[in-house]
Amino acid sequence: MKVYSRDDIINLLSLSPRRFEHTLGTERAALELAKLHHPDIDMEKVSFSALLHDMTKEYSIEDHIAVAKKFGIEFSPEELRSPKLLHSKTASYICRYELKLSEDICDAVFFHTTGKKEMLPLEEILYFSDYIEDTRKDEECIELRKNYLELLTKNEPRLALDKALVLSFNRTISGLMKKDHLIDKNTIDARNYYLSRTWKTGV
Ligand SMILES: [Fe+2]
Ligand SMILES: [Fe+2]
Repeated sequence: MKVYSRDDIINLLSLSPRRFEHTLGTERAALELAKLHHPDIDMEKVSFSALLHDMTKEYSIEDHIAVAKKFGIEFSPEELRSPKLLHSKTASYICRYELKLSEDICDAVFFHTTGKKEMLPLEEILYFSDYIEDTRKDEECIELRKNYLELLTKNEPRLALDKALVLSFNRTISGLMKKDHLIDKNTIDARNYYLSRTWKTGV
C-alpha cells in the first residue's frame, strides 16, 4: 500500500461544498462508530475509506463508463440502470488501480451503497456512517440516527448495530420498491443476514 497522509487524500477530492461536508461528516461518524464497535481497527483506514467513498459521486454516467473502461471493466446493463451504484464501483476502482490502496479500503468503498452480508468491520462502519452522518438532514437519516441511538441504550452495542443495520436495509429496500428501481442482491442478502443475527442473540 502506498503511503498517503490524510491531507494527500483530501487533496485528491474534487467535490462540491455540500458533498465535501457530507464526506467529512461520514469520516467523523465512521471514526465514532469504529471506536465503539471495532476499537482494534486501523483508524487511518477508517478515515481514508470515508474520505474517498463518494469521490466519483458527482461524475456523469459517461465519466463512470470512462473510468471503468480505463481499467478494463464493463458495466452490466443492470448496473447501468442503477446509476447511483456506479459511483461506489468507480471510486473503488480508482482506490484499487490508481491509488493502490489496501483491499479492505477498496472493498469498503465498493460496497458502501449496497452493503452486503457478513460485512467486514471497515465495510460495516463505512456503510452505516454514510447513512447516519450528521450533515444529512433528510427525515429518513435523522430517524435512523435516532433509532440507532435509542437501540444503543437498550442493547449491547453489537446487537444495537445489527438491529440498526436491518432498519437501514429495510428503508433502502422499501424506498427502491416505491420508485420501481432494481434492488441489488447484496442489499437483500445483507438485510436477511443482519435480521437473522438479531434472532441468534435471542431477541
Ligand atoms: Fe455514496
Ligand atoms: Fe456518501
